[in-house]
Amino acid sequence: MTSTKMTFDRFGSPDFVTVGEEEQPPPAEGEVQVGVRAVAVNPVDWKLVAGYLEPYFPLQLPGVPGCEASGTVTAVGPGVTGFGMGDEVIWNGVAGGYRAVANVPSAQLTPKPAGIDFEQAACVAIAGGAAYSALVQLGIGVGDTVLIHGAAGGVGSATVQLARDLGARVIGTASEQNHDYLRGLGAEPVAYREGLVERARSLGSVTAVVDTIGGEATTAATVELLGGHGPAVTTVPGKETNAAGIAAVRLLDGRVADAARLAADGKVRFHIQERLPLTEAARALALSRAGHVRGKLVLIP
Ligand SMILES: NC(=O)c1ccc[n+]([C@@H]2O[C@H](COP(=O)([O-])OP(=O)(O)OC[C@H]3O[C@@H](n4cnc5c(N)ncnc54)[C@H](OP(=O)(O)O)[C@@H]3O)[C@@H](O)[C@H]2O)c1
Repeated sequence: MTSTKMTFDRFGSPDFVTVGEEEQPPPAEGEVQVGVRAVAVNPVDWKLVAGYLEPYFPLQLPGVPGCEASGTVTAVGPGVTGFGMGDEVIWNGVAGGYRAVANVPSAQLTPKPAGIDFEQAACVAIAGGAAYSALVQLGIGVGDTVLIHGAAGGVGSATVQLARDLGARVIGTASEQNHDYLRGLGAEPVAYREGLVERARSLGSVTAVVDTIGGEATTAATVELLGGHGPAVTTVPGKETNAAGIAAVRLLDGRVADAARLAADGKVRFHIQERLPLTEAARALALSRAGHVRGKLVLIP
């Protein structure tokens, strides 16, 4: 039986991702076949297509983007224990997820809790896992005032919710159009760009920062707001954050199951800005690359 995959045969623009078909063989030793129900779109997907990740994860072309998805087990390969036909699962791996049927190593699967739907389950691994890891790394709790750069995005919006659940006060940066959205998540919104430091200071004294944006202006604001008195962590390490001594997020083992449990417990819920057919992956990647998604984009095979 043929199934859809989204594929690119040269690095560059999201437009290079086009619709293809494939015949999935039965799953090999240690593999599970998943009928994909939802795929979450992440900035890492367009970065992969652009070729930016080649120094770290060299890819053999043609490639298939996509690092997280959810679905149902449709076949189990030899030697697999712990997963059976019909199980609902979350997949997280390095590329290959933009497809309707996927053969994946069973080690990349996490059971999907019954309490969340497939769309939410598709979003928990990367944004939820990074948010959870960042807050653990910072040791956030009652008495903290956390400033989150990029609070309306996938990682940022999860970080806001989890930090609030830990008892922290949250100041979140976003453009004006996302301020009501942030208030709804329990954050105090501030606009970024010129005057961010003054606006944030007028709300209170920041004790920790989660940076999901990176770059010169954001790093300068982090350094100024903390004044050397508090930790910061970034999901976008680069020369500016390194020079400022801002730690890169250390992703925790077990974060996918932890984030899925937090979602099932209602501690974090992803706003789905748009659901697109899998075949419109190029449009989803272009939206992600433009940098202003609220919450998440999800592809439906
Ligand atoms: N290291 C890791 O393991 C890891 C894991 C996950 C993600 N990441 C990286 O972390 C970054 C964020 O990921 P994501 O999924 O959260 O991205 P995302 O969902 O695409 O983020 C979009 C959000 O960024 C906001 N934004 C854009 N420019 C901003 C600025 N200058 N200041 C504040 N907010 C701004 C936008 O808000 P407005 O529309 O209001 O501007 C939008 O809501 C990406 O670079 C991603 O690759 C790394």
